[in-house]
Amino acid sequence: MERTFIMVKPDGVQRGLIGEIVTRFERKGLKLIGGKFMLVSREQAEFHYAEHKEKPFFGELVDFITSGPVFAMVWEGDDVITLSRTVIGKTKVTDAVPGTIRGDFASHTNFNLVHGSDSVESAEREIGNMFIEQELVRFDRSIEPWL
Ligand code: PPS
Repeated sequence: MERTFIMVKPDGVQRGLIGEIVTRFERKGLKLIGGKFMLVSREQAEFHYAEHKEKPFFGELVDFITSGPVFAMVWEGDDVITLSRTVIGKTKVTDAVPGTIRGDFASHTNFNLVHGSDSVESAEREIGNMFIEQELVRFDRSIEPWL
């Protein structure tokens, strides 16, 4: 079963949007298998954003994600990576359409509220960076056959 790493970033936490963001994924029918409120260390942040190390905004990304608490989650389901990125909306907030999280709540790309893995490889790396396997819960949901 595919898994993805979703994180309400410090701006989403400060704005009181954790519940709203979790609700968007629940309503879509995705399954939460892990979640925690936490501070990201610089080491974790640099590993998380390693593929952007050469980008001019890398330092800003690391500073921002370590600036305050985040709500880190793991969601599971068929095509969960693509589905969750559709729920989140485009990275550039001027391209994020209404109905998506960023389209409805974000007005600046540097403060786009939520992160979602972009591939199976990234998801595995990002989950392993923030969670240990014992923190992820396997369970059946009775509504599964109707999803
Ligand atoms: S890119 O440029 O296509 O590689 O960017 P992308 O993969 O979409 O985004 C990588 C993360 O960088 C954030 N981002 C930015 N931060 C600051 N300034 C600028 N200009 C900027 N552009 C993109 C973007 O939100 C991604 O963070 P996450 O946490 O993955 O959403």
